[in-house]
Order: sequence, then structure tokens, then C-alpha cells
Amino acid sequence: MPPVKQDAVQEIKDRLDLVDLVSEHLRLQKAGRDLKGLCPFHQEKTPSFYVSPEKQLWHCYGCQKGGDHFTFIQDIEHVDFKAALRLLADKTGVVLEESPGAGRQRELKRTIQRLNLLAAQYFHHILLENQAGQRALIQLESRGVTRASMTEFQLGFAPAGQRKDNLARFLRKHGVSDGELLEAGLAIRPDGGGELWDRFRQRIIIPIHDEHGELVAFGGRVIDDTNQPKYLNTSQTALYDKGRTLFNLHRARKPIHEMKHAVLMEGYFDAITAWQANVTNVVTTSGTALSEHQVRLLKRETQELVLAFDRDDAGLNATQRAIELASRSGIYIKVVRVPQGKDPDDYLRANPDGWANLREHALPEWEYLLRQALGNLDLTDAGDRRRGAELVIPVLAKIPEASVLEIYAQQAAGWLRIEPAALLRDVQALKSGRSPHPGPPREGHPPPRPSPARGEGDHVRSGVGASNGGAFQKDEGYLLGLLIERPDLLAEVAGELREVNFSTPAYEQVFVRLQQMVEGDATARPTDRLSEFTPDEQGLISAVAMTRYPELDSGSEAALRQSLEQCLQTLKINASQRRLKALVAEMRAVRASGDESRLVSLMQENDRLARELDALKAVRYGSG
Ligand code: UTP
Ligand code: MN
Repeated sequence: MPPVKQDAVQEIKDRLDLVDLVSEHLRLQKAGRDLKGLCPFHQEKTPSFYVSPEKQLWHCYGCQKGGDHFTFIQDIEHVDFKAALRLLADKTGVVLEESPGAGRQRELKRTIQRLNLLAAQYFHHILLENQAGQRALIQLESRGVTRASMTEFQLGFAPAGQRKDNLARFLRKHGVSDGELLEAGLAIRPDGGGELWDRFRQRIIIPIHDEHGELVAFGGRVIDDTNQPKYLNTSQTALYDKGRTLFNLHRARKPIHEMKHAVLMEGYFDAITAWQANVTNVVTTSGTALSEHQVRLLKRETQELVLAFDRDDAGLNATQRAIELASRSGIYIKVVRVPQGKDPDDYLRANPDGWANLREHALPEWEYLLRQALGNLDLTDAGDRRRGAELVIPVLAKIPEASVLEIYAQQAAGWLRIEPAALLRDVQALKSGRSPHPGPPREGHPPPRPSPARGEGDHVRSGVGASNGGAFQKDEGYLLGLLIERPDLLAEVAGELREVNFSTPAYEQVFVRLQQMVEGDATARPTDRLSEFTPDEQGLISAVAMTRYPELDSGSEAALRQSLEQCLQTLKINASQRRLKALVAEMRAVRASGDESRLVSLMQENDRLARELDALKAVRYGSG
């Protein structure tokens, strides 16, 4: 494989949604949580080409091709990897050339990562075990944060008394230099020179992870409300960019998939209290407006976003902005209205079971904005109706899809008791007045909006190579699929499989390469590094990675273990059967040669293997 600048590959994938890329070449339609279309690589009449927005993978169950952005372009443009990389880099504006500082940058990220992990342990320890953390602990408890949450979120406390460099001194003991402390955003140098101070002093600490679960930063809340600012984040570092991170996303991913929607709130403690109230699909921004990158992160996980911001002016503005931004990317949005004067944190603390009710009364985005616009008006009064018409026109003008616009124009017109056609004319006038250059500004965009009835009934697929294998082969694919999602289990499984190979060399090869990848980098995520596999391997990986694994979705470690165990048994059974078959062939040959004693020993071996196989089968399928 060519030496790929790993960051560039990832950057391209981050910037360009695979669904958008594929949609430039074929029509996709919804199919459960994936999209499907007619395969561009072989002739077919019914779609067997699938794209997973979640995994950012594609696979054709007809011709068995599959992979990521790069294989798709390679196949569709008939170019090699390098050319596909160049093409996609141009398209996304990603710079390919390894800059002189790139190696250092990677090194720096690793360092910051290490510092963050140490700091998190330190803060957490102080909160729970040290006298210095007591006030913070009492405060957290009095705002209803449970011990379970403190552990789950690894909450902490950054102490500062006489000394303003407690963390710095702790980290120096672990060999951390002052330069590293500064680059990790964990220390500051007040007034230019002199001693370092901890960035976080006398603050409750909330660790912040990226979508992969990597600890990238901290949020810190004052314990004395007269201090400012109330919240402070790690400054921008090589690892952390506020606007590109969603707090709690790594924890919420699975629940988001299960519940088929994500909830966006404003504050860390909204998410924490929600988690306590068993509302686990919540993410938050960090005091910044929702960014396009954050929308893209969400769009990978779900097609429906529920907004639950505060009801103050800031929250109302944030809601409006979020709707405008997210609606442009075809996400289906609803707005939950938390009772006046409360944020979700307050509300859920007082009503731990109240979420279902709030969500039930959530309004679709445009209805919410229209009601908001008409909120203070008395629509029995002619003057107010006129005012109302003026207020709804700019809202309607923001609706990207003509059909959706018509629905809401009708609704608004009904409230105002006027003709929808009149409203629509005004909306058109406003729109064209705004863009002095005529022409279709939104040609092809936004992507088709998901139909409201979606998500139910993911299509059922047979496992890999349904054509060329039964349950046995399926288990082997299943095992690979599980390991691709959970590479942390690879070493253990490899130990179990020391004497045993996969039935198909292609599977065996992928397994070995996965092992090598994880040995080189324990945090490697194979689906992010698809380019390091051959096209055939990618076809295989995309198939097993896009299969649904209930035990992974359920989050039950026990269920996962059981499936793994069953798959391993199948592999062992398959291997035993292969050995038996070879043995039978050898016995036939020996019998012909007349070597009696050799034959006896082979027959004994045969008996032993047959018994072993029976035992394996009894374990796999239950005895009797
Ligand atoms: P809020 O001011 O609504 O705080 O800020 P909150 O979540 O209700 O805080 P508590 O309940 O008093 O602890 C919401 C979010 O905005 C960001 C933080 O991420 C916070 O969680 N924020 C707020 C800042 O980044 N800086 C600030 O000074 C204030
Ligand atoms: Mn709050």
C-alpha cells in the first residue's frame, strides 16, 4: 500500500459525507438505517448496493465490491488509490503534502492525550478522595449529581489554594515538561513570564471526549458563582477544537442509534442530569453555536435531531440558528419546549420521568418557528394578523423544500385566516428579492429530506457470501465483523485461535492484518483505515462491517461474549473437519500402500479427532 498521510484520509472523510459522494453518481433511497441504489459496478434491476451513513462504508451484495470513499472513486473513475486521493483532496480542499511539522504534530497529539488522561485521574481523585475536593463534592451532590454519574463522567475538581500550580506539580512528577503543559492547554503563564499556573483552578472538572471516545479536553465550572467566567474550557490545542466537538457523543452514539434520534442540549449538566434520568442520547455544544461540523457528526449517527435548549433569549436564538443550519443538511428536526424559566437540567431533576412527555409534545421545526413568530399576537385583531403575516414570511422563506414550504404556508395561512397562495407569493418575492442573481441557487441541494416514517424495519441481509457458504461460513464473517467493531478483543481472540485458521484464506488474511494494525496502534479503528487494505479485502470488510450486530447495539458485554464464543467454536469445528478430511485422504493413500502400522496410527488419530469434533459440536449446539 502507498504511504498514506493518515490525517489527510481522515480529514477527507470528515469533510465529505459518503452518502453525498455516492449520491453524485447514483440515486439512493432509504432502506432501514442504510441507503440503497442500483449498483454502478454491475448490471442489476433491483438495488443491492448499500451505503451506511453511520459507518461511512458501501457494499454491493450483488458483486461483493465495497469499501470507503476512496475505493468508490477508484472503481467509478477507474483510477488507482493515489489518483482517487488526489481527486477527493481537491474536491474537499484537503492538503495532501505531509508538511514538515506533521510528524511533530502527531507526536504532540499523543503527548496531550497522555497529559489529559493523567490530569483526569488527578482531578477525579481530588474530588472523591481529597479534602480539597469536599466543597465541590457537596455542591455536586446538592445539585443532584449521583456517585454513579461522577464515576461515569469521571467528574473531578481542580484545587487551588495558596498554590496555583497543583496539577502542574503533579504532572511534572510524571515527567511532563512546562512546554507540554502549555501545549495541552492545562497551564497558563500569567503576565508573560515566571511560574506556571494551572488553567483550571477551583473548578469542577468535566472531561470532554471526541466522537471516538478519546479524552480531548476539559470543561471547568466555578464553585463560587461570583467568579467569572462560569465555565471555562481547555483552550484550542492540537487535539481539541470546541466547534468540532460534541460533548457526550461517544457515550450517546449507541442510544442515538437505538432511539433513532439525538437530543441536543446546551450545558454539560443538562447532559449529565439527562443521563441520570435515563435519557442517554443527549449531546451538547460547549457554549458555542452549533457548527456545520457538529451537524455533520450528528448526521452520521441519525436523521432526527431533537433540540432542547433553554427558554431564555440565548436559548431561543440558538434554537433558531440550529434549525436553519441543520435543516440545510436534510436532518429532520423537532423542538422540545422545556417549561419557561428552566433548563433541561432543572426540569429533569424535578421530573426524572418527565422526558417522554416533553418529547411527545415536541414540535416540528417549522411549526415551532411559526408559532414562535406569532407567539405574542392576538389573531382576532386585524392589525396583529397583518403583523403576523409579515412575521411568518421570513420563516417560510427559510424552508428549503417546495413541498414542505407548501404544507407550512397552509398551516400559517390557516392561523392567519388568509389564502395560502397569497403567503406563498410573498415568500417567493422575498426569496427572489434576496438573490439579485437569478437562477437556481439550490440546484441539487439540499439532499432529499427523509420521510417522517423511517427507520423501522432494517432490511435483513444474509451474512457475507450468502451464495457460497452456510451457517459455518457466516459465523466466520460474523466474528470478523465483531472484531472490526471491537478491535480491543483481537488479542484475546488471536490467543484462542492459535492453532486454528479461518476456512477461507481471504478471511484469514484480513484477520492477520487486523491483528497487525492493532499491534501497531492499540486505538486503531479499522474502518477508518480501510485504505490500508486491498480492494478485495475492503469488499469483505465492508460487508461484515455493515451487517447489524444486535449484541453490539444492545451494549450487553455478556451477549457479545457469548456470540464471540459461539463464533470461535464454529471456527474450531471447521478446522477439525478440515483436518479430518485431510486425514481420510491420507488413510486412503496409506491403505493402498499396505503400510499396516501407519494405517493403525492414522485410524487412532481419526478416532481422536472425531471425538474432539463431537465434543466441540456439543458445546456449540448443546449436547443431545
Ligand atoms: P448556562 O449558562 O446555561 O449554564 O451555559 P448551565 O448549563 O445552566 O450551568 P449551571 O446549571 O449553572 O451549571 C450552558 C453551557 O454554555 C457553556 C457551557 O458549556 C455550559 O454548560 N458556557 C456557559 C460557557 O462555555 N461559558 C460560560 O461562561 C457559560
Ligand atoms: Mn443549568
